[in-house]
Amino acid sequence: MENFEEKRISLGRLRIASPLVLAPMAGYTDSPFRRIARTHGAGFTVTELISAEGIVRGNAKTKKLLIFTESERPIGIQIFGNDVNVMETAAQIVETFLPDFIDINMGCCAPKVCNVGMGAALLKDVTLLGKIAKKVVRAVHVPVSAKIRLGWDFTNLNYREVIHALEDSGVDFITVHGRTRSQMFSGKSDWNAISQIASFSKVPIIGNGDIASYAEAIARLKESNCAAVMIGRGAIGNPWIFSGKLPTFEERIKQIIHHIDLMISMYGEYGIILMRKHLVKYIHGFRGAALFRNQLLHAKERNEVIFLLQQMQDEYIKYNVTA
Ligand SMILES: Cc1cc2nc3c(=O)[nH]c(=O)nc-3n(C[C@H](O)[C@H](O)[C@H](O)COP(=O)(O)O)c2cc1C
Repeated sequence: MENFEEKRISLGRLRIASPLVLAPMAGYTDSPFRRIARTHGAGFTVTELISAEGIVRGNAKTKKLLIFTESERPIGIQIFGNDVNVMETAAQIVETFLPDFIDINMGCCAPKVCNVGMGAALLKDVTLLGKIAKKVVRAVHVPVSAKIRLGWDFTNLNYREVIHALEDSGVDFITVHGRTRSQMFSGKSDWNAISQIASFSKVPIIGNGDIASYAEAIARLKESNCAAVMIGRGAIGNPWIFSGKLPTFEERIKQIIHHIDLMISMYGEYGIILMRKHLVKYIHGFRGAALFRNQLLHAKERNEVIFLLQQMQDEYIKYNVTA
């Protein structure tokens, strides 16, 4: 396992201890998941995308998304929008929550975001994209970053132009997801393009897309000239991806229970329902998981889930002793 602690990594003004960082993921990277990712060594965490307009309007639901605990640091708050002034004001409000950096979403592919000219749609208007980044950088004292895709589609692979506009704006670092918006999540993240960007960009680049293991993360980091690599889906149900540690079965079960408890403390009993999408990933590939999967996904109370997990563990031990 690599020892990154000795050399802290500089992402502009932001310093991190590990170059393996957690990706923002709507509906997943909430406070419990961010705490877990940091416990396992993620270099930083980020909130999910948060509407700049919602922030400025003081929307109560939006405000909740801005809250984090000290154990999630270094943490970035990600905002999205396409109005220069709204983005400026939102960034100033966000700064009062004291994040370690503010990230601007310029890569979200969801139709409800892109259809109103936000997220990845900004890649189609590089002048506006540059203005937004510049305004946000000037509005706050904390480091600012941007997260982009390679372009809108394959006929508009304008990442060079986008990177230069972002360099000029003064952002501290840029995360590149190696897909176009038109790809959504299909095909593969283009790590050749990411490496190329990392070699010409004047600001540090974080490469992102399809990293499924710790070994892969280290390989991508070494091959790509990137200052860091970002992991999203690969961390769901597998926070050990940040440390390279191989957990025992018991450690996995302990981790799941800890996650459930964090969810309950944040959302009450509804946390069990929200936990389901994590549970599926945690138990994916477990021998005998199919037997319990359905019941686990229908359980509504903590005791029920714990009981099923214990049964799973007993089955696992029995199998390993008798196998
Ligand atoms: C469920 C889900 C939600 C996501 N939400 C966000 C988001 O809020 N902001 C953002 O910049 N990217 C978002 N992304 C994109 C990820 O940050 C990342 O760029 C993408 O998943 C590729 O990385 P991966 O292959 O490691 O998952 C989301 C991805 C997924 C799968």
